[in-house]
Amino acid sequence: MLNDRIESNWIAAFADVFQLCRMQKSETIVILCETQSRALNVHLAELALGQLGLPYFMVRVPTPQAAPGPVVRSSGATLALNGQDHAVKTLAGADVVIDLTVEGLMHAPQTAAILQGGARIMNISNEHPEALARLVPTADLKAAAKDAVARCRSATAMTVRSDAGTDLQVSMQGAATVGIWGWTDRPGTLAHWPGGIIVSFPRAGSVNGRLAYRPGDMNLTFKRYFDSAVDLTLKDDYVVDIDGKGSDAALMRDYFASFDEPEAYATSHVGWGFNPGARYEALTMYDKRDTNCTELRAVAGNFLYSTGANEFAGRFTRGHFDLPMMGCDIALDGHLVVAGGKLA
Ligand SMILES: [Fe+2]
Repeated sequence: MLNDRIESNWIAAFADVFQLCRMQKSETIVILCETQSRALNVHLAELALGQLGLPYFMVRVPTPQAAPGPVVRSSGATLALNGQDHAVKTLAGADVVIDLTVEGLMHAPQTAAILQGGARIMNISNEHPEALARLVPTADLKAAAKDAVARCRSATAMTVRSDAGTDLQVSMQGAATVGIWGWTDRPGTLAHWPGGIIVSFPRAGSVNGRLAYRPGDMNLTFKRYFDSAVDLTLKDDYVVDIDGKGSDAALMRDYFASFDEPEAYATSHVGWGFNPGARYEALTMYDKRDTNCTELRAVAGNFLYSTGANEFAGRFTRGHFDLPMMGCDIALDGHLVVAGGKLA
């Protein structure tokens, strides 16, 4: 149990990230939050900006009522700006948007307009600041991200295999790849903290094979480690079979079906984590309210497979699973980037 009491090293961590973003006194800096934002992190952002002598103002919108049907978590697509055209205009006119919405602006419908306005969006994941402060990004992380992006963009195929039976083929031709190292200092770009993740959104019809999840792998939508086996069969991007006898498979089958749309079963993104500071055991150490599991997505050497929306394949759905798998080999055109779950 962590206390929600401001610690000076948490303010310092926020200030470090803002300095990496090269925020300047002459810039328009906006803190974007919603009524359900983690108040502690909003306070920390204000205190860090104050300590750096950077002027700012806040845009705070009400958290929309959840739609009926399945509970949506970890979508990376805040709905808080829907119908908030004046707020979106304000954000697009800013130089820096410090995004403290619960889900984040990563995949929100308004994000393109905000970036096109020239703002840089610094999303701070909805984590307890104790975790954020452990994961202040470094120059090494940026170099690793750039290297991973270059490898993915030049590859034609990604293959993933494991001793448990994972055997996945992904065509990388035309895939959209982004590398996240944890800060942004360039207009019109978005980053999130913590970073250390590479994600590729494959084109339609690019993903086939089998994913064998075993105890110790992770389902971050449910914020739990698998404790029973689940085998997913994929055909032309879509999960066509979910095999398993335990509660993990039962929950996944039910949640997939609850969206009642085929796109919920399709591939969103593939990639891997490369943050040496991200801890595999983190999910055992935090209460669910204290973590958004971004750290688990960044654990070095995990294969991050996700279902859900993929705008590059022309698919939209509210359903989203992030499913990191440990201990795999990941190869790009036959060259291992991860061997036995370790960065190669
Ligand atoms: Fe995801």
